[in-house]
Amino acid sequence: MADLDGVTGEDNAAGYGIGIPVETKPYFLKGSNNLGWGMQDRLSRMFCPKSGKTVMLAFDHGYFMGPTSDLERIDLAIRPLAEYADVLMCARGALRGCIPPTYNKAISLRCSGGISVLTELSNEVIAVNIEDAVRLNASAMAIQVHIGGQYERNTIDNLVRTVDAGMKYGVPTLAVTAVGREMVRDSRYLGLATRICAEMGAQFVKTYYCDEGFEKVTAACPVPIVIAGGKKLPELDALKMCRRAIDEGALGVDMGRNIFQSEAPIAILKAVRAVVHENETPEKAFEMYETLKNEQ
Ligand code: R5P
Repeated sequence: MADLDGVTGEDNAAGYGIGIPVETKPYFLKGSNNLGWGMQDRLSRMFCPKSGKTVMLAFDHGYFMGPTSDLERIDLAIRPLAEYADVLMCARGALRGCIPPTYNKAISLRCSGGISVLTELSNEVIAVNIEDAVRLNASAMAIQVHIGGQYERNTIDNLVRTVDAGMKYGVPTLAVTAVGREMVRDSRYLGLATRICAEMGAQFVKTYYCDEGFEKVTAACPVPIVIAGGKKLPELDALKMCRRAIDEGALGVDMGRNIFQSEAPIAILKAVRAVVHENETPEKAFEMYETLKNEQ
């Protein structure tokens, strides 16, 4: 039964906070202030509102490479790592088949595909529709974009269609800039690719780190950039790359092989977190890695 005693009356004026303005803060992520509530909520599940950064764990390699080294069994390789990542990046088959929903992790869902490592890599299509992305409670949809590739236009088309669908349902799109074998991963190319993706509407962009001029790549991109890890590096080198990328404007990392191909995947993932979220030096983070590795 409705209870009138709970209705605030004139005697409870303090409860109204008269004279206290409602706090209004700009949204913490670059380029994201004018997005809707649902999209900002999803971005906040991926980028930590406190540090403003993210550590994403990528294991979507199988969508075109098949059973990648040390990722032959996604359940065995990834489940023990999941709790240390802010976001899991994978294809829907891997998600449904191998990752328990009880993990309650933010998901960056691989939504482009249709090729294999045996064919032309830029010839991708949209491989997941928005309804299934929403059904999976994806926090983002990831689309590969091949600037300068044979099917450049089609991959940009995949991106803009996904952005349009995401805008309708409040799901951000992550543009993943693929670099063709014949292209140079320099700041000129990466700047071109990331800027195009951002201007086409991607809410954040994944690209590679480059030794020269990476700060120009991040400066000229109006939305957050996260870096891919690339081929497996010695752990200290991987941590140095993370440090430089963050210092030069990246807002996170989306690493795969440098985590799951490490001798001690949990230890390196924790060390990467220390660099990204706690501003740790690569040397200290490496010490942490060694200690954790020797404890296991
Ligand atoms: C590549 O197309 C995939 O999106 C991978 O997720 C990405 O390359 C990150 O993985 P890794 O750190 O192994 O390069």
